[in-house]
Amino acid sequence: MAILNILKYPDERLHTVASEVETIDDNIKQIVANMAETMYQSRGIGLAATQVDIHKQIVVMDLSEERNELRVFINPKITQSSGETTYEEGCLSVPGVFDKVTRAQNVTVTALDENGQSFTLDADGLLAICIQHELDHLKGKVFVEYLSKLKQSRIKTKMKKLAKES
Ligand code: NI
Repeated sequence: MAILNILKYPDERLHTVASEVETIDDNIKQIVANMAETMYQSRGIGLAATQVDIHKQIVVMDLSEERNELRVFINPKITQSSGETTYEEGCLSVPGVFDKVTRAQNVTVTALDENGQSFTLDADGLLAICIQHELDHLKGKVFVEYLSKLKQSRIKTKMKKLAKES
């Protein structure tokens, strides 16, 4: 396994739209394993392939306290959504930035797991928020793009300063 480099906002590659995975082969399984390791090492709760510059529809997530409930979503699609909820989100691609985003409260998602098995999940709470956040990444959207233009420009300045310092 390997730790992958996480792209940082405003890297243009974060705006790439991911393509569908056609076959879940050893290469895809390796990507899933590396993404999971990268997410755990970064103490994130979710990671989309887009964030590690792999433009395939793959998401890993783990919302458990013990960090032992890995969820894998390949070619995920939200088929239903309802309600509204606002939560202070963060993102491994925008370190140190947290801000409120309003999303659907409940979502139904269908996807394939790492073995190619299709599943459907009804999610609410943080899981529903996280699914929407990660699926946005696959469409090339970062959560800060829901914020005002002024906030986005401040965040860009902050990120560029951080990048220079590191
Ligand atoms: Ni994110």
